[in-house]
Amino acid sequence: MNKIGPWLKERYDVAPIVDFMRKKKVPMGPGWYWSYMGGVALFLFVVQVCTGILLLMYYRPGINDSFESVQFIVSRVQYGWLIRSLHSWSANFMMLAVFLHMFSVFFQRAYAKPRELTWVSGVILLGLSMFFGFSGYLLPWNELAFFATKVGTEIMGAIPFVGKAMLILLRGGDEVTGATLPRFFGIHVAILPLVFIVFLSLHLAFIQLQGMHESRSFKNLPEEKKRFMPFFPHFILRDMILWLLVLNVVAAFAVFYPWELGTKANLFAPAPATIRPEWFFMFMFQTLKFIPAHILFIEGEVLGILGFLVAFLVWLLVPFIDRSNDDKRYRLIKRIGIVIIVYMTIMTVWGYL
Ligand code: HEM
Repeated sequence: MNKIGPWLKERYDVAPIVDFMRKKKVPMGPGWYWSYMGGVALFLFVVQVCTGILLLMYYRPGINDSFESVQFIVSRVQYGWLIRSLHSWSANFMMLAVFLHMFSVFFQRAYAKPRELTWVSGVILLGLSMFFGFSGYLLPWNELAFFATKVGTEIMGAIPFVGKAMLILLRGGDEVTGATLPRFFGIHVAILPLVFIVFLSLHLAFIQLQGMHESRSFKNLPEEKKRFMPFFPHFILRDMILWLLVLNVVAAFAVFYPWELGTKANLFAPAPATIRPEWFFMFMFQTLKFIPAHILFIEGEVLGILGFLVAFLVWLLVPFIDRSNDDKRYRLIKRIGIVIIVYMTIMTVWGYL
């Protein structure tokens, strides 16, 4: 490092870049350590990209190839089972990290002015992460994934006006068939990574430009009590230690609970008794089950889907809805957040039971 620095300095003016990196400071107010969660989500995304590229070397999309190529990866390719297991476990941990990061940002009200667009880009990243999970689920072409995709796309198809067109576009016809696989494959390995990187770059650029938010309780502290940690190199080095820990946890899960492949999908087989989406869709899936078939003249499922679309829109617009700065409002926001988390947890557990 001692040689690289001067070598670069002699040739390029890197001082503004170093200054820019040094500008960011992490305010160490109450609950400041939650600021590590965004970095954990970022790290797990990098694990996804690396393991995904390795899987691509042997994976073949197609009704006669998908299941067989994954079988080949886990049984014949050196460490193939580990890479596949890491990819699947890390995807789930990434979703968990994204949810934790999002709710910690919500509870700290870090979305407030001037960080509205950081929040909006974050909600888009959440949607894209969920779509990553949904599109990747089908790729091994096993029974569980096949039926879950059938149900998932069916639900999407119930969206008024655009649903049918979306269903046909995604499935490559009316049904989930061999034509669906290359579409999901293209979305999972080309379209989503590209779009994700664009929004991730925006998200990170906003944070770098504006710095990290200071909570109200932190701002109210007397000057001598306000503590900051320089982002570079202090915070990032601690971040890296956490990444190493997270990598160990993911690796332990991948080794001790290798991701199962199940049986190959059979288009003509009857649906299994339990069709399960991935856990992060479960609360929606379970809610839709509870809605009666018809409410007034509207189909229950359509109403449920519309409800979720409205909820997603409200969530996206949170920084524009909550603009006041008083403590009463803050308490209300906290309560709303807790109700949402309790609801999602109960519905998810119920779904599994
Ligand atoms: C894969 C998805 C995501 C990645 C990789 C990511 C990454 C990051 C990173 C590295 C930070 C800076 C450190 C931190 O505060 O944790 C950050 C901050 C932030 N993120 Fe995310 N994020 C993601 C999703 C989200 C979501 C879903 C939301 C909210 C809906 C969100 C909203 C924010 C906000 C408002 C900040 C600024 C926090 C502050 O100034 O203290 N992000 N994100």
